[in-house]
Amino acid sequence: MSQNTRKQNAAREALKYVEDNAVLGVGTGSTVNYFIEGLQEIRERIRGAVSSSRTSTEKLMKLGIPVLDLNEVDHFDIYVDGADEVNPRLEMIKGGGAALTREKIVAAVARKFVCIVDDSKTVDVLGRFPLPVEVIPMAREYVARELRKLGGNPVWRRDCVTDNGNQILDVHDLSITNPGELEQAINAIPGVVTVGIFSRRGADVLIVGTEDGVRVSEK
Ligand code: 5RP
Repeated sequence: MSQNTRKQNAAREALKYVEDNAVLGVGTGSTVNYFIEGLQEIRERIRGAVSSSRTSTEKLMKLGIPVLDLNEVDHFDIYVDGADEVNPRLEMIKGGGAALTREKIVAAVARKFVCIVDDSKTVDVLGRFPLPVEVIPMAREYVARELRKLGGNPVWRRDCVTDNGNQILDVHDLSITNPGELEQAINAIPGVVTVGIFSRRGADVLIVGTEDGVRVSEK
């Protein structure tokens, strides 16, 4: 079974979490794209979606799903998104698609975060995937120096401008044994907009697409 089929299986399982008349948060990435495809089948019973990126917004609008401004939504039940890595505590690295800031904001408002991944994304310790950090452009080199002090090896993702007009540093060679602490430490560096560690607001439900179907775990 291909990796794409495993992503698709995880995404289809997540459709079961969408309740009638729901407003839902929608993440970004290839796994979420399968979820958005699936929404087509249940479009009539969705009130609207809050989107985490321009790309996902376009896809939702093409399906005729109303995209709501987060400022007009007090709360909603579920946020469905992928991840680049996820550990057994349902803490994640996100931002491979550069949408981490909006993803973190939308996730913060949702009651339940449903993470959908294929089984290549599950790890015991986060950090094999280079950690994305969104930075204000003028602070890039300063932030890079500070990240080196924390033991990482930051690399500027040169071809990338985020939806917020910022830049991304991908931090290699970190072994993230205390995700909560490192999330806080990196967020405290002036010029950092968002670090791609999702520990303080991790996932509540993890759906992993595997060779044998799906594996679901809850916090
Ligand atoms: C985007 C993300 C994505 O959730 C993450 O990169 C996973 O993407 P994919 O489903 O394509 O593997 O954090 O910023």
